[in-house]
Amino acid sequence: MKIRESCESDSSKIENVHMKAFGMQEGPEIVELVNKLLDDKTAMPILSLVATENEKIIGHILFTKVIITQTTVAVTAQILAPLAVLPSFQAKGVGSKLIQEGLRQLKQSGVELVFVLGHPDYYPRLGFTPAGALGYEASHHVLEKNSGAWMVQELRTGVIGRVKGKVQCSEVLNQPKYWLE
Ligand SMILES: CC(C)(COP(=O)(O)OP(=O)(O)OC[C@H]1O[C@@H](n2cnc3c(N)ncnc32)[C@H](O)[C@@H]1OP(=O)(O)O)[C@@H](O)C(=O)NCCC(=O)NCCS
Repeated sequence: MKIRESCESDSSKIENVHMKAFGMQEGPEIVELVNKLLDDKTAMPILSLVATENEKIIGHILFTKVIITQTTVAVTAQILAPLAVLPSFQAKGVGSKLIQEGLRQLKQSGVELVFVLGHPDYYPRLGFTPAGALGYEASHHVLEKNSGAWMVQELRTGVIGRVKGKVQCSEVLNQPKYWLE
């Protein structure tokens, strides 16, 4: 398995990964999200990585820019959304490797915080921890029963604790429908 940055000609293969991973019901909305995020100027800089096996695209991860408001401290932050792995390649470490490689590249480019709204049983094993209790308010209200899904990870030691605030996503990701999990 290899990981590389995605390019424009990967578009339909990336859509296929999200459709298969999220299924007929959720898939179309996620595909629309990915395509709109890739065109969203307020989401830049982005990091879009694909996992390949013999040149076939089997996984995709996208990170986009967020801004921390209600703080006077300048901090560089991104959010992970979405992530998907083709069903036949799931539970083989592909998702974990995409996250780890993404975090490595983001750290290298100076990103200090990375957020995610995702499965609370999956992301903690990759270094994420509940963000609400650390003083990071999500773009939209996250239901109490889902509060564990709103998570953060610092890529530079000491940022958590020093910076608190409200996380403002790109225009596309800022829509309430993406915050209902
Ligand atoms: C979630 C997903 C990206 C994980 O990718 P993956 O390559 O299968 O994950 P990994 O191989 O790195 O990790 C597998 C482990 O994560 C667990 N896991 C996978 N999906 C999980 C979920 N939704 N909730 C909790 N744990 C999950 C597996 O049970 C497995 O656990 P184990 O190591 O104890 O056996 C993939 O299952 C997927 O595409 N799912 C559908 C789309 C989706 O839900 N995306 C995430 C949006 S937040």
